[in-house]
Amino acid sequence: MIIEKEADVTSAVLEAVDGCGDARLREIAGAFVRHMHAFIREVRPTEAEFELGVEFLNRIGRATDDARNEGILFSDAIGVSTLVCLINNGAGGATETDAALLGPFWRMHSPPTANGGSIVRCPTPGAALFAEFAVADAAGRPVEGAEVDVWQASPAGFYENQDSEQADMNLRGKFTTDAQGRIAFRSVKPAGYPVPTDGPVGDMLRVQNRHPYRPAHLHVLIHKPGFRTLVTQVFVDGDEHLETDVVFGVTRSLVGDFRRHETGAPPAADVAAPWFTLAHRFVIEPGEAKLPRPPIK
Ligand code: BEZ
Ligand code: FE
Repeated sequence: MIIEKEADVTSAVLEAVDGCGDARLREIAGAFVRHMHAFIREVRPTEAEFELGVEFLNRIGRATDDARNEGILFSDAIGVSTLVCLINNGAGGATETDAALLGPFWRMHSPPTANGGSIVRCPTPGAALFAEFAVADAAGRPVEGAEVDVWQASPAGFYENQDSEQADMNLRGKFTTDAQGRIAFRSVKPAGYPVPTDGPVGDMLRVQNRHPYRPAHLHVLIHKPGFRTLVTQVFVDGDEHLETDVVFGVTRSLVGDFRRHETGAPPAADVAAPWFTLAHRFVIEPGEAKLPRPPIK
C-alpha cells in the first residue's frame, strides 16, 4: 500500500503483519502495532525524543547478560511483570491470587531441609525468625506432600549469590508439607534492598524521582503435581517501602504478620531477644506444576 498521509501508516503495517501464519502471534503483533501507533499519536515525539527512546531500548539490551536481565527489570519497574502475574493467576485474573514475582535470585537446587530445620547455613547477624507456613487448596483442604522452596535476602539486604560473606545456599531451603499441609523453619528476618541502579532502569528511576527499594520479603515457590506452581513472596509488615515497592509486587494477601517477641522463653537456647515469628497460609490452584527457568546463571 502506498502511504498517502499519516493515518495510512497504521493500516499499512496492520495489513503487513496480518500475514503471520500463527494466529496467536498475529493477534499479539496486530495489537502491539495498534497500541504503539496510538501511543505515538498521543505523545507526538520529536525526532530527538524518538532517538532517545530507541537508545534507551538499546541500552537495556547492552546491560543484559547471563547474570543480569535489564529487560525484566524494566518490565518490573513499570508494573508490567506484576500485571502479567496477576492476569495469569487467580483463575486467569478473575479472583485474588497469592502469586507474586519470581525475581532474579531463585536457584534450582535449594537444599532439601527437614521440617523445623534452619536455613541459616553460616553465621548471619540479625534477628531470628521462626516461620510456619500452611498450604491449602481452593476448598481449604490441607495439601500434603507439596515442595515448598524458600529463599530470601539477609538482614543486610543481600542474597547469598550476591554476597561473598555468605555460604553457598545460605537462607535457602526446600521443605515438604506434612499431613496438615504445614512446614516450619528457622531463619533470620530479611531486610529490603535496592534493585540495580547502574543501568538504564536506574536512570529512569532517577528522572522519575523514585527510590529503588523493594520492601523486605521472603520468596516462596510451592510445587506439587496437579496444582499450578505458586511463585510468591511474603512481605514484612511495617516495612517503610511496602506502599512504594519499586517493582509493584505487594498485594494485600501477601503482607505477612511478623510478630516481634522480647520476653518469655525464646524458641531455642541460642536465640537472643528480639526474635520474630511468622505464620502464613497459601492457597494453591488446580493446574500444571512446572518449574521456572532460573532467571540468572
Ligand atoms: C526480588 O524480589 O528478588 C526482585 C524482584 C524484581 C526485581 C528485583 C528483585
Ligand atoms: Fe527478592
